[in-house]
Parts: sequence; structure tokens; C-alpha cells
Amino acid sequence: MASKFRLLLENAEQIVVVCTKEEQYLLEDGMQHLAVLEKSSLVIGNDGCIKAVGPAETIRNHFSNASFENIIDCSGKCILPGFVDAHTHPVWAGDRVHEFAMKLAGATYMDIHQAGGGINYTVEHTTAASEEELFCSFKHRLERMLRAGTTLVECKSGYGLKLETELKMLRVIERAHRELDIAVSSTYCGAHSVPKGKSAQEAADDIINNHLPALKQMSLNGEIHVDNIDVFCEKGVFDLESTGRILQAGKAIGLNLNFHGDELNPMNSAEMGAELGAHAVSHLEEVSDKGIAALAKAKCSAVLLPTTAYILRLKQPRARDMLKAGVIVSLGSDFNPNAYCFSMPMVMHLACVNMKMSLKEALAAATINAAYALGRAHTHGSLEVGKQGDVIVINASRWEHVIYQFGGHQELIECVVIKGKIVYK
Ligand code: NIG
Ligand code: FE
Repeated sequence: MASKFRLLLENAEQIVVVCTKEEQYLLEDGMQHLAVLEKSSLVIGNDGCIKAVGPAETIRNHFSNASFENIIDCSGKCILPGFVDAHTHPVWAGDRVHEFAMKLAGATYMDIHQAGGGINYTVEHTTAASEEELFCSFKHRLERMLRAGTTLVECKSGYGLKLETELKMLRVIERAHRELDIAVSSTYCGAHSVPKGKSAQEAADDIINNHLPALKQMSLNGEIHVDNIDVFCEKGVFDLESTGRILQAGKAIGLNLNFHGDELNPMNSAEMGAELGAHAVSHLEEVSDKGIAALAKAKCSAVLLPTTAYILRLKQPRARDMLKAGVIVSLGSDFNPNAYCFSMPMVMHLACVNMKMSLKEALAAATINAAYALGRAHTHGSLEVGKQGDVIVINASRWEHVIYQFGGHQELIECVVIKGKIVYK
């Protein structure tokens, strides 16, 4: 029987499958053995899922009677999984270019935050912006991420703080989920900063008693889908106790725990994340040895954000120690008005140079492990049969070019495919 398929990508110099294991994440030893196929092809079916991946000759013979909606000749090129960006703050109005100069002149992140700038500045502008304005700028940012190869991105609210504005942001994320090709994982981050005039405890009470019940109701009505809950657990923001209460209340309404911890000060966030069964803790520049061991034991992913450490001139996250200890290390761009970076190729480059990750480790961290951090590793993050057909084609004969070339990846990434549909070429 002659069957019809959506897309054939044929004759690639290399296809980086990433992994072919049962477990949907890679640890240090596995990362060294990424599955890279030479002279290979890949088939995506009409359901948007991968039907076959293997030597070009074998695929040609096997599918000799099949027809394809689209065929892409990948001679001289490489195929990789679409990148998964495990941490972004992409819905906001009011950039902070003026603060960049202040930081270069020596102001710290917390100096600016405590003087009413930083997140507070963005909250003011985001509160004033219309839902339509927010959606338009968000859509444009997602397009830029897509052109840099990202096909699944975690998107946080958190520049509203007040319920009304938080819900506005979550509706904007929901609209992107419904209207755009790029996949989003939606995160409620109402505890991103403590609103003026409130204590962390009062803000936590408001979130637990008012925000979360509203979120639950809107999810039940099908108005929004929220996947994760996030808190900025930091000295001078949400302390460990308030963070724990918020996370537990989020867990009780079915959200995955995925929060900011141990960034500027050691807070025992990693230890608490492990204890509460968090999917992931982000940042971790100041994580303790005990925290690292706890993350490994609990299989709680460490989402490392090399752009933040770079821009704020922080201590680098201890990627090597985490890998050695058996932590599931993932990467995110942390795109936000403080770290204005859309690009996972750039993030992987920084992870290799500044955090001493290998090329293979960085790629696994930006694909399968980031998908794991978002609870999507069964559908995303590797090019295995049955998974979603999200791939990028790069114009280079070795896959490492996507990390090696520092910038300019708009020219390198020739084509982005989501569910077998060519969404950028
Ligand atoms: O991950 N640390 C808290 N949140 C963000 C920064 C958000 C902002 O400054 O607007 C981060 O770096
Ligand atoms: Fe962040």
C-alpha cells in the first residue's frame, strides 16, 4: 500500500538523534555518547510524529512506494532536534536598556531592584500595557526564538504580581499556545517580586488564598492551561518558608514545581526543591554541595542559565560538579529585560566556554534534559520514532557548528520544522 507522509528530510551528513534510551534524560556518562547518525534520513508522518530515522539507503528502500507532502534535500547539512528553552520571561512591556549601562558601571542586580527598578520597573509597564500590545511583542519574541531553533519554550508570567495582570499575562501565553506553531510550557510566576507595601508572608498568603484558586477555576473552565509554578526564592524577595508554602499550594492544584533558587545567595533552595518533588530548580549559582546531592537523588533537574551569570558577572553555576554528582543538567536562555538573549545556540556556547560543559553535554542540556525539566521528555527533546517531529536543519556538515559559531546562527539555521511542518525557511 502506498502511504503518504508529511515530510522526508534526506541525505543529511549527520542526524543528531540525541538519545535512544528508555530514560528520558541524560547524565554525564550518557551525554558523552549522543547518538549521531551519518548519511541519514528522517521521515515525519501526517500526525506530526517521527516515523523513521536511519541510514539514507535503508530509508530510501523502505519508503520507495511512499509519497511525501514535502521533501528536503539535506546533502551537506545536519539535522538536530529543535531546541528546548527551559526558562524564559518573554511577556512584558518596557525594556531596561538604561539599566544595562548602570550594571556596566557597577550597580548590582539587587541595588537596582531595591531602588525600585528591575522587575518593579517592568511590572509598572506591563501593568499599563494592553493585552493586545503584550501579545504582539510576545509573538515577535517567539518568532525570534523560533528562528534561532527553539521549538519548545517555557514562558513565565511574573510582571503583574497583582492577580489581574498575572491573569492577563497567562491569557497572552494561552493565546500563543493556541495560535502559534512553537510549543509553550506555561508558568505562573506571581511570586516573582514582593509587591510594594507587603511582606513576603502577606504576598504568599494573597497568592495562596486568591491567585491559585482563580487559576484553578480558569483552568477548569478551559480558559487557560498552566503547567508550572515558579517563585523567586531569594534573600530580600521570597524566603524559603514563603517559597515552600506557595509551591506546596501550587502542587495541590496540580502544577509542576519549577522555581528560581540559590541565585544571588545560598538559600537551601535546591534542598527544598528536591524534598518537595520539584521538576526543576533554576539558576543555582550559589547552590551548596548538599543541594547538588539532593537534586541528583531526587532527579530534579538543574536549569542553568549562562546568560545571567554572564550579564550580572555572577559566579558561574557549577555545571561540572553537578554533572559529576549525577544531576540532570538543562539549559535555558532566561530571556527577560535583564538578559536579552533569544538564542539557545548562544546559550550553549556560553555553557561550554564559561561553565566548561562539552559540546555534547550542552546539546543534551538544551534538548532532552530541558524537555525533562518541563515534563515533556516523552514528546520532545530527541529524534526518536514516535516523538514529535520538531527538527532544525543547519547549513554545515558537522553538527557542532551550531555551538561553535558564536552568533550569526540566523544564516546557519536554514530551516525549522515543527510537527513535520516547515515553519521557517
Ligand atoms: O531569572 N531572578 C529572577 N528572575 C529573572 C530576572 C527577571 C528580571 O530581572 O526581570 C531571572 O534572571
Ligand atoms: Fe528567571
